[in-house]
Amino acid sequence: MNNKKGKILVTGGLGFIGSHTVVELQNEGFEVVIIDDLSNSRIEVLDGITSITGVKPAFVQLDLKSKSLVTGFFEDHDIEGVIHFAASKAVGESVQEPLKYYENNITTLIYLLQQMTANRVGNLIFSSSCTVYGQADELPITEKASIKPAESPYGNTKQIGEEIIKDTTRVNDLSAIALRYFNPIGGHDSIKIGELPIGVPQNLIPFVTQTAAGIRKELSIFGDDYPTPDGTAIRDYIHVVDLAKAHISALKRLLGKKNKEKMEFFNIGTGKGSSVLDVVNAFKKVTNVALNYKIVGRREGDIVSAYADTSLANKELGWKTKLSLEDALNSAWKWQLKQ
Ligand code: WQD
Repeated sequence: MNNKKGKILVTGGLGFIGSHTVVELQNEGFEVVIIDDLSNSRIEVLDGITSITGVKPAFVQLDLKSKSLVTGFFEDHDIEGVIHFAASKAVGESVQEPLKYYENNITTLIYLLQQMTANRVGNLIFSSSCTVYGQADELPITEKASIKPAESPYGNTKQIGEEIIKDTTRVNDLSAIALRYFNPIGGHDSIKIGELPIGVPQNLIPFVTQTAAGIRKELSIFGDDYPTPDGTAIRDYIHVVDLAKAHISALKRLLGKKNKEKMEFFNIGTGKGSSVLDVVNAFKKVTNVALNYKIVGRREGDIVSAYADTSLANKELGWKTKLSLEDALNSAWKWQLKQ
């Protein structure tokens, strides 16, 4: 019995969540090949991964928007499963440039699925997002929560992507799991990989660490008039390493043919909600750095509160978070100090 597992393709594998997932795949003995177009990542991440695991993953710089390049890749590689991260992911930018988002997030998914089905690659893990729920009616959010009309083209590409995959699994020998991430933060404890926002950070944690490092003058807190205990918005911040491990659990479920449906959906969060001020206070507790911040108006499109009911993932994937908000903030700060 060949206990060497098959090759796993990780698209967007040099990105934030992708790189942390490649590390966990290699730790589990999988052979990994990364496709990344380096449009929102850096080639140095490949060295970071290699320095953690001692194994350099195969890397192909390739634009998934090229149907012929995607076809050629599958002709050259024998792939057993695919974890698909590659996509544009800035909510605000997607409002300004919708066609860039539909081309980069949907067309590429279609080319990938065409080649997977043509080459009988039967296992797909799809990077989805809690953003598909919009402002859920009930908290914590379960996978049965209704899918609300998307608030941004980015969120819409995740909803449409899930639908495209679902329809494809119905008529092909393809099983898929969509992991709906809550808010991924932090970095690997080796401080060799982490979040690398290019330009002014849109997300909270990189803005917090850059403010603490003096790169940004102060943090703007987008609204303190929400119907929450301290008035600031609540999210479910999950350590990126816990999130990466959820991909391994999901992949093993498909490879072991343990999935109960052709397509399954799991909320991947900690199950705990933290407000923006909770994060600011936790950051000070962990790093002893008090942040300069000011309260400004709400950000367009923000929801009040989102945190996951993780019982389905806990039960079916045999996965649960092990790291805390403080662990994640500590790792994010150590990573920032290294930049
Ligand atoms: C978190 C909270 C802000 C910045 C989005 C996408 C999601 C995923 C993560 C891609 C909110 C507040 C933020 C700042 C602030 N995207 N904030 N000042 O919007 O929950 O989720 O990014 O994978 O799919 O929807 O994350 O980090 O932008 O904001 O007060 O400078 O922090 O208002 O309450 P968000 P975020």
